[in-house]
Amino acid sequence: MYIILLGAPGAGKGTLAKMIEGKFDIPHLSTGDILRDNVNRKTCVGNQAMEYMNNGKLVPDDIMIQIVKGRVLEEDCKAGFVLDGFPRTIKQAEALGLIFDELDIKIDAIFNLEASPKTIIERLSGRRTCGNCGAIYHINNIPSKVEGKCDKCGDRLYQRDDDKKDVVKERLIVYKAQTKKLISYYEKQGSLCEINANRKADEMFMEVCKSLGRVIKSG
Ligand code: AP5
Repeated sequence: MYIILLGAPGAGKGTLAKMIEGKFDIPHLSTGDILRDNVNRKTCVGNQAMEYMNNGKLVPDDIMIQIVKGRVLEEDCKAGFVLDGFPRTIKQAEALGLIFDELDIKIDAIFNLEASPKTIIERLSGRRTCGNCGAIYHINNIPSKVEGKCDKCGDRLYQRDDDKKDVVKERLIVYKAQTKKLISYYEKQGSLCEINANRKADEMFMEVCKSLGRVIKSG
């Protein structure tokens, strides 16, 4: 099953993707996570990406397209994946279309997570992430059992550098200017499903499962 999640920063893409990964046994491909891993390991890609990320800007398309091209060819992606954070520009969407054509992949569903500005700010300001396994928490909405510690692996939770107020502001500007266009791009292709993201994660997940159930039946 091949799924794409669109939505503003903090809409809940990563949280939903991890739920889909668990239920449908397909890997969660997060370009943000891939970049953060590269930054931590100080790779060439990480060194190039760091400044863009810290300033809330998009990493150049050519770098991102190469990353995704390589990642979808890996063994664990053979039966599908849930893509979170890519595409983010029309150029990336066109490149993804070509990659899918080459690999003879048909996208099963594209979900656009629509969240209000109030929801987004509240979610990003309270987010905590596990530095080891990438699990995502929120200090009020989805707290860990022990404050500051991951329920899954016990590692320390941290606040992402790009969740600071000024960077969030810039990320939202960039989203509106460059990424929002993808909604009409995919709408025109008739493959977009809107999800109200101002709800509990479980409720969103149930709606996504219903929609995917229809895809499985019709396929
Ligand atoms: P990336 O890591 O992809 O960040 P993002 O798209 O801005 O999205 P976030 O991870 O901030 O939010 P999310 O929607 O996943 O929300 P989450 O589930 O965590 O990218 C980071 C940077 O990398 C970019 O700025 C850019 O520089 C670069 N980059 C990445 N991909 C790129 C690309 N393709 N091209 C160019 N540059 C790229 O949830 C947020 C919080 O809310 C959490 O605390 C969570 O617990 C909570 N929450 C989630 N859902 C709910 C719910 N339903 N109810 C209550 N709380 C909830």
